[in-house]
Amino acid sequence: MIIVGGPASNGIDEKLSEMLNVKLVKAEHKIFPDGESYIRIPESVRGEEVVIVQSTYYPQDKHLMELLLMIEAVKNLGASKIISIIPYLAYARQDRRFKDGEALSLKIVLNLIYESGSDELITVEPHKPDAVISYFKGNVKIVDPTPALAREIKKEVENPFVLAPDRGALERAERLAKEINSPYSHIEKERDRTTGEVRIKEAPHLDLHGKDVVLIDDIISTGGTLAQASQLSYNLGARKVIAAATHVLLVNDAYDKLTRAGIKSIIGTNTIKVENKNVKIADISDLIAVKL
Ligand code: R5P
Repeated sequence: MIIVGGPASNGIDEKLSEMLNVKLVKAEHKIFPDGESYIRIPESVRGEEVVIVQSTYYPQDKHLMELLLMIEAVKNLGASKIISIIPYLAYARQDRRFKDGEALSLKIVLNLIYESGSDELITVEPHKPDAVISYFKGNVKIVDPTPALAREIKKEVENPFVLAPDRGALERAERLAKEINSPYSHIEKERDRTTGEVRIKEAPHLDLHGKDVVLIDDIISTGGTLAQASQLSYNLGARKVIAAATHVLLVNDAYDKLTRAGIKSIIGTNTIKVENKNVKIADISDLIAVKL
């Protein structure tokens, strides 16, 4: 086995190489003056099982293109099998056509990865795992980041209550609640499919008095969802609110929005290169390693 580290591996390639005692080859990369990407694999991988590590956080299209070029180059060099580790899989939220005429982004992205030559895909908690499994024509392995997130969350809370910001996130909340030995529930969210605006509904049935609420989601993008969930949690009596998510994109003023909403701590994982040093990062490399 050989690991090929891409420009957006965020150090996970090096960690896997050390943990598994497997050779690491760094892909050479540059951007041509006109903006096009260039990739070269500088060593032979003939006959080897090759594990390519490349996340697809911002700029998503650039990182996705680099991934496709790495797969093509590795295949051309004669690898016996190609496994793509994509810690954050971009476009995963557009997993269906919400309105007529929309592109099914997830499906075309997964087709491109498969048709470029990737036999297997390993990714960390995509928005809907079943959609990834059904659209990727090769083998798919999903990494559950809960144990890594839980390790960090336990340092921050005393009397936890895990809260999912929508019904779709309830199963994730249940996994985390088991891991940190906490009760859990969910609230309800509506999203305007044209403006992207979210609205969290009132939850009179929930009593969060004295609780350290742990909001858990797959992604923090604009922060709108968790900011509203935090305000509602305080209205319901929460003592303190923290936020945890697998992929902390933190777009634009998301961090300020979350802190203004009273969120005391934000925990994410290293699937994304998070520039904001106040975000606590849980390493998921060991959870990926066991899938290889
Ligand atoms: C959507 O269903 C996801 O699970 C997240 O709740 C959403 O992507 C978060 O986005 P934002 O931070 O922009 O509200």
